[in-house]
Amino acid sequence: MNPFSLSGQTALVTGANTGIGQAIAAAMARAGAHVIAAGRSSCAQTVAMTGGEELRLDFADPMAARDVFSARRIDILVNNAGIIRRADSVDFTEEDWDAVIDVNLKAVFFTCQAFAKAALAQGGGKIVNIASLLSFQGGIRVPSYTASKHGVAGITKLLANEWAAKGINVNAIAPGYIETNNTEALRADPDRSKAILDRIPAGRWGRAEDIGEAAVFLASPAAAYIHGAVLNVDGGWLAR
Ligand SMILES: NC(=O)c1ccc[n+]([C@@H]2O[C@H](COP(=O)([O-])OP(=O)(O)OC[C@H]3O[C@@H](n4cnc5c(N)ncnc54)[C@H](OP(=O)(O)O)[C@@H]3O)[C@@H](O)[C@H]2O)c1
Repeated sequence: MNPFSLSGQTALVTGANTGIGQAIAAAMARAGAHVIAAGRSSCAQTVAMTGGEELRLDFADPMAARDVFSARRIDILVNNAGIIRRADSVDFTEEDWDAVIDVNLKAVFFTCQAFAKAALAQGGGKIVNIASLLSFQGGIRVPSYTASKHGVAGITKLLANEWAAKGINVNAIAPGYIETNNTEALRADPDRSKAILDRIPAGRWGRAEDIGEAAVFLASPAAAYIHGAVLNVDGGWLAR
């Protein structure tokens, strides 16, 4: 058996309509998984790419996934949906704090919880959370994003401690600077864009596909003994 194959597995990817989520969905389908592309927007394009199916999930309600996993068997959960709000910390609003924490952290925890209730009963599963370089670094003008992504790294380790012996692998990926909507503002600013590129040892921005393939690995049998890891996929940024 190919230890990197996801054949026979069903994977649910949140925020799968675009960017990193879409690339993860596509990579998992190529690895043989049946993919449920979850989004608050239409995932029709991703469904066409993967031959999978669509599920509407809007984490404006962080508990939105509460009934998803009891309805059917799902082997792999990828918590990818996320938002970012930028403003100086002295001006940062409660609305921008709560909105980001709800989608990026509260929804991630309670979606993991809902998945685990079913996965523990069915003998196991795999969770891949999408963290960030700002799970390790402070960033600037993104206080709620940084707090949420430090939190994602923390709960990934906590849940791994609780569930590793029960057959659920909980891990995360910390993407570097990837060319998606999330980083459009950075790439549009020539000074910021150049400063970022100059620091990346690989000499290029990341592509969503770089994250997709890493997610397949963490969801595959090859990663059976990996628990609580936050894998940097950053072109070497954090090594610098
Ligand atoms: N790009 C990077 O450099 C980078 C680096 C580190 C970490 N990340 C993380 O990677 C993940 C994906 O980001 P991306 O770069 O692919 O950005 P993106 O293109 O902006 O994608 C974000 C995804 O999250 C979805 N989403 C946002 N709010 C949602 C909600 N309330 N309910 C359900 N889905 C929601 C979006 O749906 P809509 O399209 O409908 O808004 C979209 O599918 C995020 O967790 C982000 O923090 C990205």
